[in-house]
Amino acid sequence: MARAPDHPVARIGRAPLSSGRERSGPPERRSLAPRSATVTVMIRAAFAAAKSLKRDFGEVEHLQVSEKGPGDFVSHADLRAERTLRTELARVRPEYGFLGEEGGETRGDGRNRWIVDPLDGTTNFLHGVPHFAISIGLEREGEIVAGVVYQPISDELFWAEKGSGAFIDTPNARSRRLRVSGRKDPARALVATGIPNVGKGGHDTYLPKLGAVTKRTAGIRRWGAASLDFAFVAAGRYDAFFEFGLAPWDVAAGMLLVREAGGTITDVAGSPYVLGGPSILASNFGLRESMIEILGGA
Ligand code: IPD
Ligand code: CA
Ligand code: CA
Repeated sequence: MARAPDHPVARIGRAPLSSGRERSGPPERRSLAPRSATVTVMIRAAFAAAKSLKRDFGEVEHLQVSEKGPGDFVSHADLRAERTLRTELARVRPEYGFLGEEGGETRGDGRNRWIVDPLDGTTNFLHGVPHFAISIGLEREGEIVAGVVYQPISDELFWAEKGSGAFIDTPNARSRRLRVSGRKDPARALVATGIPNVGKGGHDTYLPKLGAVTKRTAGIRRWGAASLDFAFVAAGRYDAFFEFGLAPWDVAAGMLLVREAGGTITDVAGSPYVLGGPSILASNFGLRESMIEILGGA
């Protein structure tokens, strides 16, 4: 069957093998791609935290929920999952620092730091919408060098290591390489975003940009978990993603997935993105300039 001209080509393929790297993943999921011991540790931690999240999601209506701010809830599920991640990661790498959304910063060796969102997509979780993830990034000397995003309900595991590529593991497909899409034409592009809610503000800046993107693209998606928005750009499902006001834990793992899948990360004006900076744009290279032009003109 002939491909439409803008159809992404071979975005997923088998990972190359190299010697001297660990090949076996957690017992639950053996990887076909070479993984470092560090990524294996991250995946094990994510799977451990996912157990309690899945249990809590099943009983979501019984969860005791407190409000951290309007629209930004903290549930026992977040806290429990973050505790599990802290414990699991510290057991194997006790010298590393830790920055988690719920528990804040624990200083470590000054060189390595985990950056963790134990439950990205809390609003979905609390409303029984099965679209949320655990996000773990590893920062080394100021640079993100490994990232894991795990969606417990779909059982999709996205992971990347700097210089080695980005991969997806699912129960049916092991360690397929991720590639961003090849679409260049905004009129054919599916673009994800995060819309500021009642607690966030910035609507006067944001809404004209949303309007401009709506008028120029094939569609907008707002699924409510930034880490998965990045993962979906990396997988070529979305062609671009932009948002304002994301925190380091929303971004750390996902930005590496996009870069290692051949995509680009900047701010919405096309300048280098600084972790925790005011805006972010993830895209394939072919679409980036159009996205910057559309977002800048509104
Ligand atoms: C939120 C989600 C959402 C994004 C928000 C984030 P949380 O994280 O990633 O998609 O639009 O800006 O705060 O609160 O669910 O961890
Ligand atoms: Ca988040
Ligand atoms: Ca969160």
